[in-house]
Amino acid sequence: MALVSPFCGSPPRHAAERGPTPGRKNVMRLVLIGPPGAGKGTQSSRLAAHLGVPHLSTGDMLREAMAAHTPLGDQARAYIERGQLVPDELVLNMVCQRITQPDCHAGMLLDGFPRTVRQAEALDAYLHGRGTPLDVALELAVPDDEVVRRLDKRGRDDDRPQVVAQRLHAYWTATRPLLDYYRQRGLLRSVDGLGTMDEVFARLLRALGRSSPHCS
Ligand code: AP5
Ligand code: MG
Repeated sequence: MALVSPFCGSPPRHAAERGPTPGRKNVMRLVLIGPPGAGKGTQSSRLAAHLGVPHLSTGDMLREAMAAHTPLGDQARAYIERGQLVPDELVLNMVCQRITQPDCHAGMLLDGFPRTVRQAEALDAYLHGRGTPLDVALELAVPDDEVVRRLDKRGRDDDRPQVVAQRLHAYWTATRPLLDYYRQRGLLRSVDGLGTMDEVFARLLRALGRSSPHCS
């Protein structure tokens, strides 16, 4: 999915649509990568509010589509229930529709996307086409046994042990290669996801070069 493609079409025609002013400090485009249950959603809500950018969770978007019984939701259901990744084409079309909205032009926090190298390449192509490349890829690192403990307590439909095992498998095989992808581009920052939610949040802020709200 190159940029001028089904993903997102052509870059905007008007300079005013290009979004961020070069050098503007608060503009942030970031992705949060981590295994299921790492705390991506928990931390993204807080981080997005702190940075003043929209929080886009592909998991939430897909669950909304399933609840609304849209064609996308009906197609995605079988994959999600089995703990498998939804095919790239479906996810990319969905994300394209969202990230081309004006509120994403000055920044966005992507939670759970990209999850494959193909998705990462498509995102890069889109952002480079706009002249607004990704700033940071944050890894939230949590070991598998902690993932299992957290999701066992939560009890979402796809938190059943067999499904969690498959979600972890998908993470290790399809998503972890993204860490190298972003490391090679100098964009990766890794953060320990163990500890209290406040501790993890403070680490994420430090990784972004921002001071903790408690310390400022
Ligand atoms: P998605 O909804 O993205 O699920 P996930 O990434 O597998 O994991 P979660 O969202 O459950 O975990 P999280 O890291 O957000 O942690 P959370 O904050 O919730 O995706 C679901 C499915 O959709 C996928 O399996 C796939 O099928 C499909 N999908 C989505 N995106 C896709 C894509 N791009 N491509 C293809 N398919 C896609 O926290 C988890 C629990 O831990 C909570 O109970 C929370 O309270 C707790 N917790 C959080 N932080 C802490 C802490 N510090 N200490 C203790 N507990 C904590
Ligand atoms: Mg989540």
